[in-house]
Amino acid sequence: QPDIADSFEAYAPVNIALCKYWGKRNAVLNLPVNDSLSISLGNKGTTTRLTRLPGAEKDKVFLNGKPVDGESAFCRKVVAHIDLFRPLGSGALRVETRNDVATGAGLASSASGFAALTKALVGLYGLTLSNEELSIIARLGSGSASRSIYSGFAHWHRGVRPDGMDSFASSLDVIWPELRVGVLTLAESEKPTGSREGMQRTVDSAILYNSWPEQADRDIRRLEHAITVRDFTLLGSTAEQNAMAMHATMLASWPPLLYWQPESVEVLQKVWQVRQDGVQVFATMDAGPNVKVLFESNSEPEMRSVFQSMDVIAPFS
Ligand code: PMV
Repeated sequence: QPDIADSFEAYAPVNIALCKYWGKRNAVLNLPVNDSLSISLGNKGTTTRLTRLPGAEKDKVFLNGKPVDGESAFCRKVVAHIDLFRPLGSGALRVETRNDVATGAGLASSASGFAALTKALVGLYGLTLSNEELSIIARLGSGSASRSIYSGFAHWHRGVRPDGMDSFASSLDVIWPELRVGVLTLAESEKPTGSREGMQRTVDSAILYNSWPEQADRDIRRLEHAITVRDFTLLGSTAEQNAMAMHATMLASWPPLLYWQPESVEVLQKVWQVRQDGVQVFATMDAGPNVKVLFESNSEPEMRSVFQSMDVIAPFS
């Protein structure tokens, strides 16, 4: 039996994929069809504190200070993740989770959320695990959480084993201080199709998806090269093309899956216009309407004046 602490707090950053994870080869273990590569957003993420509740029967979950309904999907996913550790003997827990980015800011909080929860559980139980092991456990909560174990660049290796024990992320261990990620939050829209359902639909119905593994393989190699030689244009153009290719497979699904809103298109066209005017800026999008842009610090003043409502994050500061 491990020596269980009374309370433990952990932090994990949000990450933005430059080569996307889209499609599972095993939906229970969250094993992906393709490798993916991301950049974590430094001090934008999730902090989760776990406290033991001796005598209580059920976990109590709080999100940004407010109690979460025990029947909600969010709560059930959190409890299921804690259940992975429950046989070790913690009993019920109070879970207090806080996101640095406002909900609806277009940053996937499930990635930082499950990475922080995994780190907090491992800390509470006093376990000593490698980052790869943490990444595997976080992956079971949400695939992209496998990458949020790390700061900086992370490469999630899809693995080949049916048990998923070789499907974890590792750190690229490169620092790129000039890199900036801009987050443009667009008008609130109706609840989109979740990534789990969206991936399933794409894999099941889009013939275009057959080309996706090849696209991802090429883009991973390009991104790794771009990061090694610090070629921002190669990094950004690869990330943008990868995101557009992923969204093309969604649109080629049936029923068609389109996460974009009219405002998303407006922002993309502005990005392309600014780039034509000579600013090195590239866009990426995930399973929602918001657009994230990649640029370097020398373009920051210009980018701030073009996109006034943009939240600018320096991943390596
Ligand atoms: O980890 P999930 O199930 O939320 O899926 C994430 C999917 C994308 O955000 C669209 C791509 C990615 O690699 O983060």
